[in-house]
Amino acid sequence: MTANELEREVARRRTFAIISHPDAGKTTLTEKLLLYGGAIHLAGSVKAKRARRHATSDWMELEKERGISVTSSVLQFVYRDHAVNLLDTPGHQDFSEDTYRTLSAADSAVMLIDAAKGVEPQTKKLFKVCRMRGIPIFTFVNKLDRFGREPLELMNELEQVLGIRSYPMNWPIGMGPEFRGVYERQSRVVHVFSSEGSHGESEVAERSVSIDSDEIHTVLTEAELAKLHEEIELLDIGGDEFTRAKCDAGQLSPMFFGSAMTNFGVRPFLDAFLDLAPAPAGRTSRGDMREPSNPKFAGFVFKIQANMDPAHRDRIAFMRVVSGRYVKGMNAYHSRLGKEVRLAKPSQFLAAERTAIEDAWPGDVIGLFDPGQYRIGDTLSEGNEVEFDGVPRFSPEYFAVVRSKDPLRRKQMEKGLEQLSEEGTVQIFQQLGMGMKDPIAGVVGALQFEVLQYRLEHEYGARIALDRLPFSHARWVVGASFEAKSFDWEGNRQTVQDRDGLPLVLFRDDWALQHAEEKHPELKFLSEAPMVRGGVAVIGS
Ligand code: G4P
Repeated sequence: MTANELEREVARRRTFAIISHPDAGKTTLTEKLLLYGGAIHLAGSVKAKRARRHATSDWMELEKERGISVTSSVLQFVYRDHAVNLLDTPGHQDFSEDTYRTLSAADSAVMLIDAAKGVEPQTKKLFKVCRMRGIPIFTFVNKLDRFGREPLELMNELEQVLGIRSYPMNWPIGMGPEFRGVYERQSRVVHVFSSEGSHGESEVAERSVSIDSDEIHTVLTEAELAKLHEEIELLDIGGDEFTRAKCDAGQLSPMFFGSAMTNFGVRPFLDAFLDLAPAPAGRTSRGDMREPSNPKFAGFVFKIQANMDPAHRDRIAFMRVVSGRYVKGMNAYHSRLGKEVRLAKPSQFLAAERTAIEDAWPGDVIGLFDPGQYRIGDTLSEGNEVEFDGVPRFSPEYFAVVRSKDPLRRKQMEKGLEQLSEEGTVQIFQQLGMGMKDPIAGVVGALQFEVLQYRLEHEYGARIALDRLPFSHARWVVGASFEAKSFDWEGNRQTVQDRDGLPLVLFRDDWALQHAEEKHPELKFLSEAPMVRGGVAVIGS
């Protein structure tokens, strides 16, 4: 590998995730991006995912389809000269910490919004995580083929609800059945689409005409043209100026309009997005930035997925390459275990099949066969020079005490809980105080409780009961003067400990949390777990 080759491969890569609320059209848009990326055969796997959503809300049914969700966790396709990695963020019923963590492997995010519904709760949560990371956030307003809210109103909502300003890169012409196309502001070109009888299965026919040409009068009606001129003038006068720096810093969201279903606006979005989205960024390791251009290979694990065949406890660890080149069969230093490991059976997630890969570059994600040696946040590298800052753990919102229904199988239950928490299915907390107390499980999506119960029983033979607790916030508490005693159970809060021994307080509601924050200004209440280095919590890294 030459330095040039590495530079070229980094420059052509884009790694991103789509964030949205269920039903906004993520599956449809994914399908269409793949269609435009020439990977049409992938549509099948995406469709199967959609089918399962409609089939049933029964979790076990979902798991039967898991083979599909494993392979569609990361989709790679080539568009123009770009190698694009689209990371799937579990949404729907399987909303879990995974959804958040996947964002740690993305360099940018596409926020998908249903034009009729605007900003919805799940989008808000995911947006916050992207904001924290400071990655560029692009907005795609979907379903313009139906009547929705006015574009200006949506821009306003983004600002009011999310606190982010947006810059429409293009502007819709018409809405609902009258949705004709989009006007691209920078090139001053109008793209008019026609479906020609296709229902979105194939790329849409497109005619592109400059707004300044005479020809435009043959493409748009005078009324359409007048309305467009008026709206663009409003934007030019009242809107933000576009700067690349603000976009890169995640302060200004480039906005696009379209319909994933009819493909209207998909191509203009993809083109502009790939031009503007950043190439893979480095990651911090012990306070220093590890740049992608560093020739030595390094990567980190951000997600672990179990093999659903109970006969095989093996798992797949998803690793994002941060620097250098990964070559098949190579060994790497596993910094948490302090030893060299062989990165076994790597696969990349092209098409519906997992494909064995020969090499991978910064921004790429590879799936490693995991006999149980990886944890989320682990660093793997050539040489022993890096240890990435880890993947954050987020504050769960649902809590339950886990009781073993069969005392003789308590050990199995504990083992299962440990492994499932390594995978990130749940977070496990210990209750403080005298005597052996049952652990508390915390999750970010309530369905994860069903997952936990089912998997403990089927994979570990441990039947459990879950007693739901009335808490909705968990905060890691940091401060020398913190005394668990003073926070002990008062009905609306309880102190627990996480797997690293860090204390947390569980709060019943916003009020209880606010009360504690006001009463204890000397303490910090963190919604994200502090990093632990050498057994000590490190804040602000
Ligand atoms: P999700 O993954 O974000 O949950 O959304 P998904 O793509 O499954 O889309 C949710 C519903 O919205 C689907 O309808 C889908 O067809 C529809 N949809 C997606 N994009 C558009 C769009 O641009 N315009 C319109 N009008 N609809 C769109 P469904 O009836 O639930 O499913 P299906 O029977 O169409 O598959």
